[in-house]
Amino acid sequence: MGSNLSVNKEIEEYIINHSLKLNSIQKEIISYNESLGDIKRMQISISQCHLLHLLIKTSKIKKVLEIGTFTGLSTLSMSLALPDDGLVIALDQNKKTNEVAVNFFKKAGQENKIKTIIKPALESLKDLKDTKQKFDFIFIDADKENNKNYFNQSLDLIDKDGLIIIDNVLWHGEVIDKAKQDKLTVAIREFNSYVNSDKRVENLIIPLGDGLTICRKL
Ligand SMILES: C[S@@+](CC[C@H](N)C(=O)[O-])C[C@H]1O[C@@H](n2cnc3c(N)ncnc32)[C@H](O)[C@@H]1O
Repeated sequence: MGSNLSVNKEIEEYIINHSLKLNSIQKEIISYNESLGDIKRMQISISQCHLLHLLIKTSKIKKVLEIGTFTGLSTLSMSLALPDDGLVIALDQNKKTNEVAVNFFKKAGQENKIKTIIKPALESLKDLKDTKQKFDFIFIDADKENNKNYFNQSLDLIDKDGLIIIDNVLWHGEVIDKAKQDKLTVAIREFNSYVNSDKRVENLIIPLGDGLTICRKL
């Protein structure tokens, strides 16, 4: 049976008003991002912060990898949900935004639980694999053209039942608009089909924020 629900701005606001609350530094990051203008759309949505929080809180997740830190909203949301001996390794190649993020992490008292690495993510992923690191949970939110590479590399960094979550998979709804044939939209569509036909995972796309895919490694 189909549903008539379209998650517009008002529904997203209703979700936020009837869900858990943000911590004061998460709010500060959001205000800071707003001051940056259009680039603020890079950050995950508030409802996505809460989903990451709940997934981590209700599991035995201790070690998280993030691909795409930006100014730190998703990183901090995950770190705050982790136990005291948890760790987030956060990858981004942008020194400037990373500096901003690290300041927020310190302000939130989370600097001991977050390690940032500033390099092209594919290089960092190779280093992590070479040093045989393993994670319980990987959040992919960087350059969308590389989603397939990040996804394949991530599968080597988690064990069975580990989670990989990918952001922006609905691409403002453009994935279903056949008139949209630009490179990025086509790449996201292809990526979604790739993940869904991959026998190494089972996946679900959920319409929170710009669309998240949740994959469990089989
Ligand atoms: C959508 S933003 C991440 C948003 C972040 N998750 C949040 O909630 O605020 C994407 C980030 O990926 C980074 N990025 C893009 N291409 C990259 C690459 N090849 N290697 C590492 N980082 C990259 C950008 O610098 C940017 O900060």
